Amino acid sequence: MLSGTNRIILYIIQVLTSRVFAKVELNKPLTTDDNNAWRSASGEFAFGFRQLNNDTKLFMVAIWYNMMPGDQTVVWSAKRGYKLATAPTGSRIQITSEGLVLTGPKGDSIWIANSKDIVSEGAMLDSGNFVLLNGNSEHVWQSFDYPTDTLLPNQSLQLGGVLTSRLTDTNFTTGRFQLYFHKGDSHVLLCPLGWPSQLRYESYHTIDDSGNASQLVFDKSGDIYVETTNGTRIQPQGSTWGNSNLDLDRNYYRATLDFTGVFTQYAYPRNSTIAQPGWKIIRYVPGNICEAVNQYGSGCCGYNSYCSMENQRPTCTCLYGYSLVDPSNPFGGCQLNFTLTCGADVQAPPDELYEMHEFKNFNFPLADYEKIQPYTRQECQQACLQDCMCALAISGDFCWKKRLPLVNGREPKLKKVVQASSLLETNLHSFSYEALKEATWGFSEELGRGSCGIVYKGKLEAATSCNLIAVKRLDRLTQEREKEFRTELSAIGKTCHKNLLLVYEFMSNGTLADILFGQSKAPIWNTRVRLALGIARGLLYLHEECDSAIIHCDIKPQNILIDEHFNAKISDFGLAKLLLFDQSRTNTMIRGTRGYVAPESFKNVAVTVKVDVYSFGVMLLEMICCRRSVMTMEAGEEEKAILTDWAYDCCVEGKLHDLVENDKEALSDIGRLEKWIKIAIWCIQEHPEMRPTMGKVNQMMEGLVEVPNPPSPNPDV
Ligand SMILES: *[C@@H]1O[C@H](CO)[C@@H](O)[C@H](O)[C@H]1NC(C)=O
Ligand SMILES: *[C@@H]1O[C@H](CO)[C@@H](O)[C@H](O)[C@H]1NC(C)=O
Ligand SMILES: *[C@@H]1O[C@H](CO)[C@@H](O)[C@H](O)[C@H]1NC(C)=O
Ligand SMILES: *[C@@H]1O[C@H](CO)[C@@H](O)[C@H](O)[C@H]1NC(C)=O
Ligand SMILES: *[C@@H]1O[C@H](CO)[C@@H](O)[C@H](O)[C@H]1NC(C)=O
Ligand SMILES: *[C@@H]1O[C@H](CO)[C@@H](O)[C@H](O)[C@H]1NC(C)=O
Repeated sequence: MLSGTNRIILYIIQVLTSRVFAKVELNKPLTTDDNNAWRSASGEFAFGFRQLNNDTKLFMVAIWYNMMPGDQTVVWSAKRGYKLATAPTGSRIQITSEGLVLTGPKGDSIWIANSKDIVSEGAMLDSGNFVLLNGNSEHVWQSFDYPTDTLLPNQSLQLGGVLTSRLTDTNFTTGRFQLYFHKGDSHVLLCPLGWPSQLRYESYHTIDDSGNASQLVFDKSGDIYVETTNGTRIQPQGSTWGNSNLDLDRNYYRATLDFTGVFTQYAYPRNSTIAQPGWKIIRYVPGNICEAVNQYGSGCCGYNSYCSMENQRPTCTCLYGYSLVDPSNPFGGCQLNFTLTCGADVQAPPDELYEMHEFKNFNFPLADYEKIQPYTRQECQQACLQDCMCALAISGDFCWKKRLPLVNGREPKLKKVVQASSLLETNLHSFSYEALKEATWGFSEELGRGSCGIVYKGKLEAATSCNLIAVKRLDRLTQEREKEFRTELSAIGKTCHKNLLLVYEFMSNGTLADILFGQSKAPIWNTRVRLALGIARGLLYLHEECDSAIIHCDIKPQNILIDEHFNAKISDFGLAKLLLFDQSRTNTMIRGTRGYVAPESFKNVAVTVKVDVYSFGVMLLEMICCRRSVMTMEAGEEEKAILTDWAYDCCVEGKLHDLVENDKEALSDIGRLEKWIKIAIWCIQEHPEMRPTMGKVNQMMEGLVEVPNPPSPNPDV
């Protein structure tokens, strides 16, 4: 227990320190380098520099909550005009007799808050208001008069005042919405902005219905209302703005025009020991921002994205075939994964290049350019497919054609199911013969010969950095075969999009066969391990992760391309088979390469994805041993000629070192070596049903599941 006097002394010291912290003297700058701030007496608010994001050397001048664990919510930031005032490292801010002055590292003026009178000191108040005071302690400038996106209790917005949202949760640049106290007709309105300008579009919500508003008040008790000229208080309109039990002793409150366009009142419990601290939404307007914004501009979610309400918050979803413009910003809109081509450049008919995908329950009411009737759903889809301006068709009572960008997407108001179809590229890019001839310098530089054609080096004038290509010129194709081939390719293109082009990126390291069996030394064990894992994942992707499974049918080291970073890419889909719909096997005869082809392929029975597993097993052994699967051997070594058989013998007899000879790296990884040889033997089992799936193979290779001892690959011999 403290004695009475001690308590008094402690109390006095506390009061003195608070005064020291709260008051800011003239010409005592803060700089971006010292990690300091001007704190309010209670320590609840702080004024100072805030880094814009972790990897830039830019700062803003801001006021934030300073006592919330892990949460320094910014309530104010310095704006130059309507733009965020940004300060480079080395900048300083200080109070002078003229006001609050922000200067750059070289003393250049970046921003100044001019005061009405000669300033004698400043203070960060416990209300969150930063004030400049004259000699009579009158406020001659205060941050409360220049709100950014947030109001605090005891802060009001007068006629003509605005709150402007930030761009995203973490980007404080001026955003896309404004709360605007319209001087002319005395309404408090929410409007979208013609971003990045400050042009206001027509409002999407009216906060008061008085027409005689004089101020928007956030009072000392935490309540928010519009006060009219005759003193009447009007609550913000909307069912989502209900009454609330407010208690400033227990909660912090703020009202923010969120970057999504929603004006929201939040509470944060002052008692930080409660289980889940954090800002909770108390009430907000408008009730459904997705439907409210119905204007020019990109709406709440940005272009080509649609908006739905979840947990009182809008969320945005890209349409199928579109991806976020800025992957870190879900509200920044989406872009097509591909370019819609049109007119003379297009070689193939549109239905070979694109296909329509059907979706339910969303609409883009403002993107229409055609309205057709009577049209069935199929006719509507076809009409869109044939029209290179059309990105989306909505079919219902009418067939609506919609063009890019798709704006203000949302779930339909009526619970009527809308069928919407969006265009999706098949990922097949067609090049004309002339273009390819030019790109390959008249097919002059031969890279290699493969099944049904020669591969040439070429160069494409593309926007991408990697524009060296390999072009395979197909020959020996009958008309029949070509048709089949085109169909297959186009189907492959539709289902998968990675590395499945006829025109390949040029792979500087050639094929896996080149590096395994070529003149120079084979890559070291660890590189081979990485390549094998990559190929296994690639096959898993083809078999299990595409919309319809693809059997490659010709897995062998010659068909694995190696890029400059030693990444493996599976290529040559000339023989690939698609397993469409529920099919799990295909009856087409396959023509693979001897040595790698699964036994059932020769039997004219239905083949499954397990033929690739077989080929992978053979190839895995080759990668482990750095030799071809079939070799002519000298007398006395004949048992080594067929790698698959020999590997099994070595495995059973525990002679793994014989298989890898003097490969020290492989032997030092004996655990993996043994496991992978067993996996390979599982893959080359004669009976397809005995072979693991690529999913299982991947799990075993990654050590996620055990590898049992395999039986002999040829049980009947
Ligand atoms: C509320 O604002 C008024 C006027 O701006 C000011 O005089 C008063 O001290 C403030 N009250 C609190 C509790 O901050
Ligand atoms: C904020 O967004 C603007 C506009 O997209 C961008 O130019 C700026 O770099 C962003 N700022 C930060 C700190 O990410
Ligand atoms: C004040 O004005 C509002 C509308 O602006 C009106 O409904 C109300 O009756 C008025 N009250 C008084 C006391 O004049
Ligand atoms: C606004 O106030 C003025 C004067 O008090 C009054 O004449 C007018 O009718 C009011 N308008 C509305 C919409 O209440
Ligand atoms: C804070 O919350 C905890 C847990 O709910 C409670 O035990 C404690 O008394 C509270 N403290 C204050 C100061 O209200
Ligand atoms: C293209 O669209 C699909 C489906 O929306 C998406 O999953 C994929 O990530 C996108 N691809 C690219 C390369 O952006």
